[in-house]
Amino acid sequence: MIAESLIAKMETVKALLSGARHVAVLTGAGVSAESGIPTFRGADGMWRGELAEDLARPETFARNPELVWEFYNWRRSLVAQCQPNPAHHALAALEQRVPEMEIVTQNVDGLHQQAGSEHVIEMHGSLWRLQCTRCTHFEETRAELPPLPECSRCGNLLRPGVVWFGEQLPRGVLSVALESIASADILLVVGTSSLVQPAASFVHVANRSGAVCVEINLEATPNTGFMDFALHGKAGEILPALVD
Ligand code: OAD
Repeated sequence: MIAESLIAKMETVKALLSGARHVAVLTGAGVSAESGIPTFRGADGMWRGELAEDLARPETFARNPELVWEFYNWRRSLVAQCQPNPAHHALAALEQRVPEMEIVTQNVDGLHQQAGSEHVIEMHGSLWRLQCTRCTHFEETRAELPPLPECSRCGNLLRPGVVWFGEQLPRGVLSVALESIASADILLVVGTSSLVQPAASFVHVANRSGAVCVEINLEATPNTGFMDFALHGKAGEILPALVD
């Protein structure tokens, strides 16, 4: 149920979206929460007593690749059973209506593309991508993997093709994301705690270029004060109502 106090704000955002020329959308784990995928922080962010944040680190992989692969194989099999939810579908529908739109996502689950979104920038890589720890080989597969998958070219250990804490974003990704944010007339920030850089600072880029900034989240975040509109509730309810 959408709170009564939100309805008027949502009508305004809906009108702005219907006249927008270029929409940029920044998404985080919250957009996939209603598909059944646990978020990173809060009560959900634990796996077998380990913080998801501690597992997504190159140091942890170097020390204990079995543990990190077990975590990612668990996430791959979980996500493989999940479907896009109404929030993903609403964003895919919005892309068909506005002249220009990109989704810049911190998620690695591929659900935006599965819902039909075409312009998706994956800032943190993909769960379905594997890359060799030694050579330049990489591959995309949704197949079940052995506990320690090996490179088909050189036989060395493969790693998940995702960005871990302390690592660089894939080449070119940040500039493409910034270009989208800086040239949009509306920025939607959906389901992210706004704690992880560089995505957390995108709202400032949008503020500087004069875009209307809209946050859609269950709760307030450190960036709520920089938004023109904060719509607090479930993304899977608010987005379909905005795009309806
Ligand atoms: P977080 O887990 O930090 O935050 C999820 C956000 O989604 C929170 O602010 C929730 O309030 C909100 N949320 C949860 N359910 C929601 C719903 N149904 N509708 C709307 N909002 C909802 O996830 P991210 O912000 O994505 O990075 O985290 C950013 C990065 O930190 C991740 O990409 C990952 C992580 O560690 C790496 O692994 C490098």
